[in-house]
Amino acid sequence: MSTSTPTSAPSDLNLKNIQGDILSGFPKKRETFYFFEVLDATKFREDFRKLIPDIKNVYQVLEAREEICGHKKMHPDGPLCPFIGVNIGFSHFGFQKLGIDDSKLTDPAFLAGQRADAENLGDKGTKSKEGKFIPDWEEEFKQDIHGVMNIASNCPNRIHEQVQLIEEYFKVGTAQATMRKVTSICGNTRPKEHNGEEHFGFLDGISNPTVIGFDVDPPPGPAPVRAGVIIVGHDGDPNKAERVPWMTDGSFMAFRLLYQRVPEFDEFVWANRLKLPGLSDQQGADLFGARLMGRWKSGAPLDLAPFFDDPALGKNENMRNNYRFAAEKDFQKFCPFAAHARKMLPRADLEDHGIPIERRRIMRRGIQFGEEVTDQERKNKKTEHGRGLLFVCYQSSIVNGFQFVQTGWANEAKFPKDVPQLPGLDPIIGQNHGKDDRGPMSGTNPDKPSEMVELTEEWVVSRGGEYFFSPSINALKEIIAL
Ligand code: HEM
Repeated sequence: MSTSTPTSAPSDLNLKNIQGDILSGFPKKRETFYFFEVLDATKFREDFRKLIPDIKNVYQVLEAREEICGHKKMHPDGPLCPFIGVNIGFSHFGFQKLGIDDSKLTDPAFLAGQRADAENLGDKGTKSKEGKFIPDWEEEFKQDIHGVMNIASNCPNRIHEQVQLIEEYFKVGTAQATMRKVTSICGNTRPKEHNGEEHFGFLDGISNPTVIGFDVDPPPGPAPVRAGVIIVGHDGDPNKAERVPWMTDGSFMAFRLLYQRVPEFDEFVWANRLKLPGLSDQQGADLFGARLMGRWKSGAPLDLAPFFDDPALGKNENMRNNYRFAAEKDFQKFCPFAAHARKMLPRADLEDHGIPIERRRIMRRGIQFGEEVTDQERKNKKTEHGRGLLFVCYQSSIVNGFQFVQTGWANEAKFPKDVPQLPGLDPIIGQNHGKDDRGPMSGTNPDKPSEMVELTEEWVVSRGGEYFFSPSINALKEIIAL
């Protein structure tokens, strides 16, 4: 999380012009993603004016965070200081419908849309007679989605009111409607005892890029990135030279609807628990699970706590991201090459070979969805209720960011290259079109790095998504609104 405050950021970034979720992350317990189709472009753009005051910028979110913090200190057991934030992004199809030329957004993945990218991303699907790939996605994501509003709050009941307001602005459901709801998905953080954890039980939201000119005194960790890696039109944006002015201060959002098969994942971890001297069965299972993720459930990184969990380290914001996977640590004795956190940010695996990593950084802002695993599911070792991650990440280039880390790293068994053992796919998100055989992964046994474990199935299943562009506040006022 950012350490910036509205007054302390030494920034040439205009924090009041950037949508709030991108750099500061909405404070949230619940978040609804409202996917829409524009029905009448001109009238939608007129109605859009009413929505603008509800859209929170970075500055406002930082202010709200300060207020929430102050309130908590004064009233530790009192009611929450309420926050509600709305942000919005448009797909290429949305810009087309609105008659807005987005060609200088340049990003081929964005301009084609995620449905056209699904096969390349490794999603499960079938081929039509004409040879067209049809992803095995929920129906709503198989049609053109024009945009998404993400509505987040730390007070769950506030979201419903805000959604109602939005539907009133656009007269949704009436004969004069200027937009239509395609679908809405509601995300929830997990209950208190699992605060901050994703559904497999690992602490999430630890490592995000810190941004030069925004984050003040970031904790030790990977090098901060230039603002343009996340925010379009700034230094670090690979297509900066081509942008037209309204694109500046926007960011691309990749959204993915990812189901998690938790009982099946737990069963795989248990069945493959490490049987090492001095470890109980449970410790062997916890170590095996940590070696799939690259961190323990507590958040402690394997590179610093290779054989036993260190919950205090997992909580320590100044230490838990300060590591590099340096080769002198015996390649994958500490952490497998394919472990999710290592695949997603290989640190020394690339940097020590002179390969820059900055352009691959993404700002993750997802939230969990679905209920907790039931006793019945646990007993039957079988998922009966949908749950998972509404994955969101922001970047100035989807091609360099989300698309690359999914296809070039997670789905690529030979990444990282030139290492003594074949790494295998990222066991958490590496995809092979839904096939039950994702091939072998090395390094799960710290004593036998060449020992291979077969990744039998996918425990994370993609059922939809889209690429969006979240414009600046000025662009919302001057380009989108009429
Ligand atoms: C259900 C699916 C997923 C689960 C359960 C999951 C879980 C996690 C966990 C537990 C961490 C470590 C905590 C942290 O550093 O914040 C992590 C880190 C990360 N994940 Fe995922 N993740 C999922 C999907 C994805 C996807 C789809 C991507 C991108 C394609 C991704 C990219 C990353 C990145 C970039 C990091 C941080 C690496 C670092 O900076 O050290 N994750 N994830």
